[in-house]
Amino acid sequence: MNLKEYTEKNRIAWNAVMPYHQKAKKDEWDKNFRQPGYIIQEEPELSKLRELGLEGKKVIHLCCNNGRELLSLKNMGARYCLGVDISDAAIQGAVDRAKACNIDVEYLRSDVYDLGDEYNGSFDLVYMTIGGLVWLPDIRRFFAVVNRLLKPGGQFFIYDSHPFSNLMPWEGDAETKVEITQPYFHSEAWEWSDSLDYYGGAEYEAPVHYEFTYTLSEILMALIDNQIEIRFMGEYEKDISCGMEWLEQRSMKLPLSYILIGQKQKDNTDENRTNKTGRSTNCKI
Ligand SMILES: C[S@@+](CC[C@H](N)C(=O)[O-])C[C@H]1O[C@@H](n2cnc3c(N)ncnc32)[C@H](O)[C@@H]1O
Repeated sequence: MNLKEYTEKNRIAWNAVMPYHQKAKKDEWDKNFRQPGYIIQEEPELSKLRELGLEGKKVIHLCCNNGRELLSLKNMGARYCLGVDISDAAIQGAVDRAKACNIDVEYLRSDVYDLGDEYNGSFDLVYMTIGGLVWLPDIRRFFAVVNRLLKPGGQFFIYDSHPFSNLMPWEGDAETKVEITQPYFHSEAWEWSDSLDYYGGAEYEAPVHYEFTYTLSEILMALIDNQIEIRFMGEYEKDISCGMEWLEQRSMKLPLSYILIGQKQKDNTDENRTNKTGRSTNCKI
């Protein structure tokens, strides 16, 4: 299958699960976001976002799903907030919540790979959180989009499941043997048709969908090769996947999530790129 065939199948699968997610979480989130200034992010993410500073920034949230995190970025002082998701139902839910809670953000239904040139160089921050990357069939092409969206000097922030956690069983409890059940290196798509309702746990006939697991070096190199410099990386024992609490609770000191912050080089042009001595790289002596 080509990239578009994968992302289109995934769009259909995300549309199918959204009514279940809404049933499980809509009322809670609507109620929370009616409180002025409500922020849903927790530690360690919150401190890192505060260090970056949101005040006055133009932010784009890729794979924003129900839009809840973007509402918080607005409440943290961001000037302009745009959430993008491929799922029609997710975007509709996000638009409805922003309106009901009177928070001034925008949402766009789009495949991240299709974002047009009109967004080039527009954003101070490209933000992405748990469970976004795994849906994207081409990580290098994705980070080329991120580079394109950022202003020179703009930052990329991701808080996601750690690639190590892909090795472990998805479900378990206090008795589950902690063992490696999945490969680390896996360049093919994972094909699934199980329920995506990680909030309510509803069982339904899920349309087939495709996930892509990336190693740590694939993530780092995709950023580096797209002129995004690594500024920070932190690894955490905290599970943010809604599926591996059982492993976190075992307190085995395993890396279950990470935060990575990158920065688009201030000037990518050959004339202005300088080497470590401060000379232009065009200088031959
Ligand atoms: C696990 S959810 C993100 C959840 C979100 N981080 C949160 O905590 O609420 C993944 C989202 O990625 C979106 N997605 C998948 N493929 C996409 C693509 N190619 N372009 C844009 N969004 C995509 C899905 O529609 C889904 O809403």
